[in-house]
Amino acid sequence: MELKQNYLADSHRYDSSETFYRRCGKSGVMLPKISLGFWHNFGGVDPYERSRAITHYAFDHGITHFDLANNYGPPYGSAEETMGRLMDDSFKPYRDELFISSKAGYDMWEGPYGNWGSRKYLFASIEQSLKRMHLDYVDLFYSHRYDPNTPLEETLQALVDIVKQGKALYIGISRWPLEALKFADKYLKERDVPLLIFQDKLNLLNRGPQESGTLDYCHDNGIGFIGFSPLAQGLLTDRYINGIPEDSRMAQGKFLKSDMLTPELIAQLRAWNVEASAQGKTLAEKALSWILEQQGVTSVIVGASSVPQLEKNLKAAE
Ligand SMILES: NC(=O)c1ccc[n+]([C@@H]2O[C@H](COP(=O)([O-])OP(=O)(O)OC[C@H]3O[C@@H](n4cnc5c(N)ncnc54)[C@H](OP(=O)(O)O)[C@@H]3O)[C@@H](O)[C@H]2O)c1
Repeated sequence: MELKQNYLADSHRYDSSETFYRRCGKSGVMLPKISLGFWHNFGGVDPYERSRAITHYAFDHGITHFDLANNYGPPYGSAEETMGRLMDDSFKPYRDELFISSKAGYDMWEGPYGNWGSRKYLFASIEQSLKRMHLDYVDLFYSHRYDPNTPLEETLQALVDIVKQGKALYIGISRWPLEALKFADKYLKERDVPLLIFQDKLNLLNRGPQESGTLDYCHDNGIGFIGFSPLAQGLLTDRYINGIPEDSRMAQGKFLKSDMLTPELIAQLRAWNVEASAQGKTLAEKALSWILEQQGVTSVIVGASSVPQLEKNLKAAE
C-alpha cells in the first residue's frame, strides 16, 4: 500500500462537489454523502499506516467528515489518538476543510463519572477528546446514547454550554428514542443552539428510524440524519456470502457474531447480491444507495478495513 510521507491532498478532491455534498437539515453545513467512521480499524491495535492510507484516500475523494467517539479503539481513546497523529502528520493544513465529530455516552473510564449523560462526564470527556485529537474544537459533539436516569435538561444544557465555550461548533445526538429527540429539539431551539444532526443505525436489514418515525421527524424539523453501520458491519457486502473470512470483523467475534449468519440471512444476501449484479453494482453499492435514497438522510458513515473497500463504497455516491 502506497503511503504518502508528506501528504498533499489531491487537487481534484472537490471535482464532484455539486452532487457529493448534501445540506445537513436546515443548517449551513454541507456533509459528504459518504462519511468515514473510526469505530473499527483506527485503534491502537491497528496498523497506523493502513489507517493513514484510508484517511488519505477518503479526503482525496472529498470525504470531509470523520466520525469518532471517546471510546473507539481498542483500547478506548486510541482512535482519537490516531486522529491526533493524523492531524500532526497529514491534516493540520486542512483543518478548516474537515468536519470532525466525537461523542460521549458509553463507558469510557472507571467510576461513576465515566459513562452515561451527566454534565460531569460530558465536560471531562470533551476535554480529553480534544487533547487526544490535537484539536482546539470539534465540529460536532454528540450525546452518544439516551440516559434514562439523568434529566434530559442536564445532558442538553451541558451540550449547549460546550458549544458556548467554543469546544464544539454543533450538537448531535445518537440513539435517543423519538420522544426524547422531540424534547431535545425543542429545548435546544429555545436556547439558540439547534440540533444539527441525529445519528442512528439504518440499513437494509435495520429500518428502525423509518419505522419509529424518527427519520420523518428529522426531515420535517430541519434536523440532519446520518446513518451508521450502513453495511450492517459488512453483512451487506459480498464478505460473508461464501463463509467467514479469517480477516473479517465476524471472525473477531466481538461486535458481529457468527450466529447472526443464519441460512435465511445468507439466502437474502445472495438474492440481493444477484439483484445488484444485474444492475451492474456490488451489494455494498446497492445497500448504500438504498439509504442515500431515503428522504431525510444527509449522509452514511461507512467503516473500512482497506482502501479498496472504501473505493468500492464511494461508487454508491456517484
Ligand atoms: N452512534 C453509534 O452508536 C454508532 C454505532 C456504530 C457505528 N457508528 C459509526 O458508524 C461507523 C460505521 O460503522 P460500521 O463500521 O459498523 O459500518 P459498516 O460500513 O456497516 O461496516 C464496515 C465494515 O464492513 C466491511 N466492509 C466495508 N466495505 C466493504 C466492502 N466494500 N466489501 C466488503 N466488506 C466491506 C469491513 O469489515 P471487515 O473488517 O470485515 O473488512 C468494514 O470494517 C463507525 O465507524 C462509527 O463512526 C456509530
